Amino acid sequence: MTEVIEKKKTIFSGIQPSGILTLGNYIGALRNWVKLQDDPAYNCIYCVVDLHALTVRQDPAALRRRCVETLALFMACGLDPEKNILYCQSHVPAHSELGWLLGCFTYMGELQRMTQFKDKASKHADNINAGLFTYPVLMAADILLYGTDLVPIGEDQRQHLELARDIAIRFNNLYGNVFTVPEAYIGKAGRRVMSLTEPTRKMSKSDEENSYIAILDKPEDIRRKLRRAVTDSDGVIRYDREGKPGVSNLLEILSAITGEEMEALAARFEGQGYGALKDAVADAVIQELSPVRSRYEEFLADKPYLEQIMQNNAGRAAKLALRTMSKVHKKLGLAPYKL
Ligand code: TYM
Repeated sequence: MTEVIEKKKTIFSGIQPSGILTLGNYIGALRNWVKLQDDPAYNCIYCVVDLHALTVRQDPAALRRRCVETLALFMACGLDPEKNILYCQSHVPAHSELGWLLGCFTYMGELQRMTQFKDKASKHADNINAGLFTYPVLMAADILLYGTDLVPIGEDQRQHLELARDIAIRFNNLYGNVFTVPEAYIGKAGRRVMSLTEPTRKMSKSDEENSYIAILDKPEDIRRKLRRAVTDSDGVIRYDREGKPGVSNLLEILSAITGEEMEALAARFEGQGYGALKDAVADAVIQELSPVRSRYEEFLADKPYLEQIMQNNAGRAAKLALRTMSKVHKKLGLAPYKL
């Protein structure tokens, strides 16, 4: 088993246990994770990043519950705990430790440039904590801890991934070849699923309810939200992200789900009204998400099983992490020790 892990390339990605995961999370990340798990070239590690979630205030009981729920959702989306390492970030303390060490190789100026920090700081002006600022360093630690080659993410995380690459290169220049320099894996369609009510903004669960589709939304809610989706007044179905953001978003969602090219879809809907496009998107999204919803309920009904998976997989992840950490300790000159 260990030998196989060494030969294959590594995929790592994570999602915050934020309660409501959206169609953006699904198309931008989860769906690609599921596809990649069947590629024999890779070992995949997918993480519920609960430490990242602490950068905004959390209710402890709710956070605890949502970690298990997020794991159930991973599995409902089709991630197999036998094929992938599915676990919870806080169960592997090496994430925090490497986060600290890498913080000593990251510049304030780099963190100040992060658009997500600027965004979140303006949304949580009463709680601009240091964790929010160093968030991308912990993310770099998550990735570099496992010698990750490929990171499947949505477009909004690209800047953080670039920073992880810069930190890895900087560290390697100083200490030799310690970290693998990771690449982003960003799907063609659906890299940035937009809000249904303000299609120039990213779809996000922190906006008003009609602006996003939750993975676990009921079919009638999905259809209602899509029917209300903001489009434009010229009535032409054509892909033009700048000029026609609403229509383009709908085409992109449909393309991401059906695999049909955007141009082919635009040609198929030529001459039809927006209502036809919205109905087709609703049909596709409902068909895609309905099985996820029912499997989610089944997995969630067996909490002991989910907890056991978390426990076992954290052990597997911790073993891999230890290899990197002992290398890093040695390179940095930290005094040797044995637990
Ligand atoms: P998070 O939890 O905000 O989102 C999880 C994943 O969903 C993608 N995503 C989207 N993709 C397309 N359109 C959207 N509207 C949309 N909204 C969200 C995100 O790009 C992401 O891939 N910092 C990360 C979590 C993280 C991580 C990591 C990811 C922590 N450590 C290491 C990769 C590797 C975050 O907050 O994602």
